[in-house]
Amino acid sequence: MVIGEMDAAQVAAYFRGKNVLITGATGFLGKVLLEKILRIQPDVRKLFLLVRATDDESARRRVQTEVTGREIFQVLREKHGKGFEDFIEEKVCPLAGDVMYEDFGLDTAKLKEVSKDVDIIVNGAATTNFYERYDVSFDTNVLGAKQICAFANKCTKLKMLLHVSTAYVSGEQEGLILEKPFMMGGTLREGTHLDIESELNLIKHTQIELKANCATDKAERKTMKELGLKRARHFGWPNTYVFTKAMGEMLLGHLRGDLPVVIIRPSIITSLLKEPLPGWMEGVRTIDSVFLGYAKQALKFFLVDPNTIMDSGGHGGKLHDGGHAGALRGTSTDHLPCDIVHEQPGLLHDSPGDGPPLLRGQPAARGERRAHPAEQDALL
Ligand SMILES: NC(=O)c1ccc[n+]([C@@H]2O[C@H](COP(=O)([O-])OP(=O)(O)OC[C@H]3O[C@@H](n4cnc5c(N)ncnc54)[C@H](OP(=O)(O)O)[C@@H]3O)[C@@H](O)[C@H]2O)c1
Repeated sequence: MVIGEMDAAQVAAYFRGKNVLITGATGFLGKVLLEKILRIQPDVRKLFLLVRATDDESARRRVQTEVTGREIFQVLREKHGKGFEDFIEEKVCPLAGDVMYEDFGLDTAKLKEVSKDVDIIVNGAATTNFYERYDVSFDTNVLGAKQICAFANKCTKLKMLLHVSTAYVSGEQEGLILEKPFMMGGTLREGTHLDIESELNLIKHTQIELKANCATDKAERKTMKELGLKRARHFGWPNTYVFTKAMGEMLLGHLRGDLPVVIIRPSIITSLLKEPLPGWMEGVRTIDSVFLGYAKQALKFFLVDPNTIMDSGGHGGKLHDGGHAGALRGTSTDHLPCDIVHEQPGLLHDSPGDGPPLLRGQPAARGERRAHPAEQDALL
């Protein structure tokens, strides 16, 4: 079965009665996913949104102003009329938390309550700045993956952990690039070996040194940014973002045990394709400035290599054409525990049941569960 041809009703039906925990809901992709689930499957049970905030009340306010209060929820708002706020209140449960902390920083009672309910985790939280400080990127994109795994292991009825990665973990290679999982230690540069634990130690030592030298905030930021870029390039990745996302994938693959994990690797997601608002976009990042320049008729020309295929896509059709939700539905517990999907409408791959070209991670043997990350002192 081709994921892109998955029946829309089947995808929507999958969410009926499910509890979904979403990280990164205040971001671009997260709010689109949230809106779509609520619109196509109002019978979803609960959507837990992990949001960085001091407490649940602040998290709720953030969700109101930065997510459900945004234009993209207009269609849903009109559909529910006066009942919109009640509908959101009933379905959406904001939680103050941060993926870089153990149990996301949730207190024991909350952790217990959420972990017994969650059926699906969608991990979209990431530091997406290409040239972010190494420590900041590492905390969310690498340690975050570890904490997500640890949390997922506590969810007694978990059916799926969907991790949103990026197509650019493949770096700047040319030709046909298969969706191979990253193995621990793997790099994009021959002759190098990546030790994630050592990278964490390098960050810690650099922080200590900066402190000892009474570095200013500006100097610290500069050093940390340069360190990320230097390490990324040393191992063959073009920037800190994709390097840390690749390490996050490695950790997930290493720590998942028998968790049912799907990793999706979208390329550039620009704006909404069709619904609820065609052309809707948020912020101006990467290729967006070119589209805006064109729309405003300010872009006189744009040099391209006519032989190059540009891989960027609209969001929004994804729940129907087999994107996030398609990956979720297509990889239920009857499939192998780790699938990697390059998510772009023009580049559809076969589903796991049909074998290659969709490549899978190496499944851990059933019952051969690895040690719980929380039981380990070190990163691994
Ligand atoms: N947009 C694209 O074109 C694209 C393409 C390929 C892959 N992706 C992947 O898709 C995912 C979402 O991307 P996006 O474009 O929606 O990114 P985004 O707009 O930058 O949003 C990032 C989200 O992650 C949250 N976050 C960051 N650090 C966190 C932490 N430590 N704990 C909890 N939440 C944290 C942010 O929360 P705050 O609001 O608190 O900052 C925000 O909600 C990312 O994993 C990204 O790598 C995106």
